[in-house]
Amino acid sequence: MYDFKPDPTLDTAERYRQLVEAADALTSGEPDPVANMANVAALIWEFVPDLNWAGFYRVGAGAEGADELVLGPFVGRPACIRIPIGAGVCGAAAKSGETQLVEDVHAFPGHIACDSASRSELVVPVKRDGQIIAVIDLDSPNPARFTGDDATGLEALAKLLSDRI
Ligand code: SME
Repeated sequence: MYDFKPDPTLDTAERYRQLVEAADALTSGEPDPVANMANVAALIWEFVPDLNWAGFYRVGAGAEGADELVLGPFVGRPACIRIPIGAGVCGAAAKSGETQLVEDVHAFPGHIACDSASRSELVVPVKRDGQIIAVIDLDSPNPARFTGDDATGLEALAKLLSDRI
């Protein structure tokens, strides 16, 4: 049994430090990317409060051959399966290679509403050898839920996962 329940009094930086440590322990030595993404999505759900969606979109070939984002393992309501690179918050992260911290999704041009409860969003690209291979997407029903500490913590997780997904 895995028991990674975090202490609810942890500050954000320590919470993500423990999340990365748990993700390292769970994915170390496991070569299957789907298994690793599934476990990490579940871990994020355990460690990060006030979310309504947490998961992965992978960069993959679309029907026309061009790269697009394809839904990966997640926790939350069923979501959009394919997102063009550049579209919405996830597509912006995949196109720019930069973290997207959106305090108000309704004010983000082109935001894709998969769950109408979402009010704020944090998306971090996962890179391998300089290429963007996936994004990690967190949604919250609370406006301005995410801070720079969430972005820094999730970026550390993305770095760990670079060669594990
Ligand atoms: N809101 C995202 C789409 C993915 S869902 O939130 C799970 C976006 O605008 O890219």
